[in-house]
Amino acid sequence: MSVMSRTLDSDRSPGAPNDRVAAAQAQPNIALIKYWGKRDVALNLPVVGSLSITLDTLWTRTEVRFSDALDADSIVLNGKSDPKQLKRTSACLDLLRARAGIRTRAAVVSTNNFPTGAGLASSASGFAAMVLAGDAALGLNLTPAEQSVLARRCSGSAARSIFGGYVEWAHGSRADGEDSVATPLLPADAWPLSVAVAITSTAEKAIGSTEGMNRTADTSPYQDAWIDSQEADLAEARAAIAERDFERLADISEHSCLKMHALALAAKPGLLYWNAATVAAMHVVRSLRAQGVPVFFTIDAGPQLKAVCLPSAASRVAAALREVPGVLNVVETGLGGPAHLIPTAAAAAA
Ligand code: DP6
Repeated sequence: MSVMSRTLDSDRSPGAPNDRVAAAQAQPNIALIKYWGKRDVALNLPVVGSLSITLDTLWTRTEVRFSDALDADSIVLNGKSDPKQLKRTSACLDLLRARAGIRTRAAVVSTNNFPTGAGLASSASGFAAMVLAGDAALGLNLTPAEQSVLARRCSGSAARSIFGGYVEWAHGSRADGEDSVATPLLPADAWPLSVAVAITSTAEKAIGSTEGMNRTADTSPYQDAWIDSQEADLAEARAAIAERDFERLADISEHSCLKMHALALAAKPGLLYWNAATVAAMHVVRSLRAQGVPVFFTIDAGPQLKAVCLPSAASRVAAALREVPGVLNVVETGLGGPAHLIPTAAAAAA
């Protein structure tokens, strides 16, 4: 048993006989065609569709315990009570409670095996795991599509972490957002890819995705061009995946990443998520690719660089990134499966 699990056990409420409890695991996903901007902030509806890959060895494990003995929701994240996360956690629990027609409060205990809040999509895996665990605890029997819609309302990218492999999340056109749901395109093992995450900072990011994309929509002069060009990018990525054409996927993915950052850089004040090591790592990936190594980069709202490559190139790519000044660590992973329930003891042992 790790130090972390002893901390978690001591933080966990002892539990009463009528408690409704379940646990789930979800993995982060990385968007190749990015989500940035909302068409409805209250319902968390995206202004564009997006396309992602779900990862394998990085995970969030979350236990949700609804108990009549509780008079408030609580969240313990990585062994520590985390009041900053409480508002969003309670808002997500409210959606589950509304489905079940109850007001019972819940204790959430969640562990990530990767740095939280640094552009590694901890909100995606976190809210996907919370929705699955909450669904099971309350016996809601939601379909994966319904889970995806609920997870989307908690954090947009969480809609995609319900599913494994290659996933597309539609922006939808209905005002109520019920058609803004993720669907799986291809399972992970149908076209295995490797991902090397170059961690260049473990600090919490200054401007989170929600604030960043809202500022961008309000102030960036490129917002309309971003929206207008997204359907073509999605079609190109879908075709590349259907044909297992790595070069084609590489070109369109780097384009979408750089376009999202160009859009955000042009906000007022401009959003600059990269540090010097991020940029150095971009150059290293580009130079590997120029030498014929099948690899491309993508970067989200933080300073980490994710290098996506064919498995045959994984060790070479990871070794090259480890040499980049300012890269603190390189985490290697493949593509993974969908979010799933786990025994509550497994969440406790995380
Ligand atoms: C840059 O899903 O974290 O990672 O819906 O406001 O919770 P909210 O935002 P979030 O945004 C993720 C943005 C991104 C691109 C992506 O994952 O598609």
